[in-house]
Amino acid sequence: MSSDHVVFFDTTLRDGEQSPGCSMTTQEKLTMAHALEDLGVDIIEAGFAMASEGDFAAIATITQAVRKPRIASLARARTEDIEMAARALQFADRARIHVFLASSDLHLEYKLKLGRAEALELTGESVRLARSLADDVEFSPEDATRSDRDFMIEMVRIAVEAGATTINMPDTVGYSTPEEYGQMFREVRERIPAIDAQGIVLSSHCHDDLGLAVANSLAAIQNGARQVECTINGIGERAGNAALEEIAAALYVRGDHFGMRTSIKLEQLYPTSQVLGQIITFKPSPNKAVVGDNAFAHESGIHQHGMLANPLCYEIMTPALVGVAKTHLVLGKHSGRAALRHRLEQLGFTLNRDELQHTYYRFVALADRKKNIYDQDLVGLLPDQIREHRHETVSELD
Ligand code: KIV
Ligand code: ZN
Repeated sequence: MSSDHVVFFDTTLRDGEQSPGCSMTTQEKLTMAHALEDLGVDIIEAGFAMASEGDFAAIATITQAVRKPRIASLARARTEDIEMAARALQFADRARIHVFLASSDLHLEYKLKLGRAEALELTGESVRLARSLADDVEFSPEDATRSDRDFMIEMVRIAVEAGATTINMPDTVGYSTPEEYGQMFREVRERIPAIDAQGIVLSSHCHDDLGLAVANSLAAIQNGARQVECTINGIGERAGNAALEEIAAALYVRGDHFGMRTSIKLEQLYPTSQVLGQIITFKPSPNKAVVGDNAFAHESGIHQHGMLANPLCYEIMTPALVGVAKTHLVLGKHSGRAALRHRLEQLGFTLNRDELQHTYYRFVALADRKKNIYDQDLVGLLPDQIREHRHETVSELD
């Protein structure tokens, strides 16, 4: 492991799509796959070929229309799944079969009714079969973080010997912490030297049940992972997967800390989030990092004053960096005179000190009663003689 390039494996169309309110038609998946290609993701997990005819069709369609990223299909460690994945991917320029098998006793005993020895045998057989059908094979010991460590590592060793080119260790139920998750990557690399020696890529796949998915993914990177599995807007099973936009922004904004490169075009983050929001049944919450409506909005007077003096006071990245048109200074009951004057200037009204003071009192009284203050409300607050003297102005912030 020496590369400083982090591969972005987007699973919006697989793990994301399998969560409530997120199912997509083939056409919608194709629209999203084009957006992901424009965003610069390295790999698109387009679906789970065996899951349904729709998933198979979507994967096959995407392989023929989207050429830059590698296209992956998920498969259980079963012959019919792996062969189906290979068929769905047959027209891809670059394909990946992603085989998974649970490694935790909980999953083996209750879900799969499989003993440990059988699971190890199945791992070797299924990875070998996948490698006979594709050059690029990823293996995931599902529920890795709740598995007996020695057993999980044995499973990974067998997958490596059978020819897996990427090993993904999922925190399937979002249980791990950054320190623990990072340590797991370190330990696997130490105990299986072939991973670094043969350039096998280690990958993170984190769920957000404790709100730690992005932190855990970053910890994995700091401990040798060079692929992150993530989704747009963090959609995915239960509380979702690690949010792609948050990992990409963190790696860029804190490049001094992480020292990693990616091929993500940051200015496409917001447009891609919007495309997804129009396809599925919900949008990111307003306070969602990077792409939420409030991520670049300021209402408090102190913050607005600081922003007008120098945006660096309260923003660690420009909205333009992630494709958001501009910062919004939202006028509400927490706003101060500076923001009110600024907005009125933008609307074409210059007020002297007394006029501003008078208008400000009326504005605060209105803001106490009304959640959203629109420009026409502001104009309505102005004394007549000012309203008649409108001029043209343009400004950066609004
Ligand atoms: O969360 C998980 O364990 C998964 C695997 C199929 C990789 O999604
Ligand atoms: Zn998952």
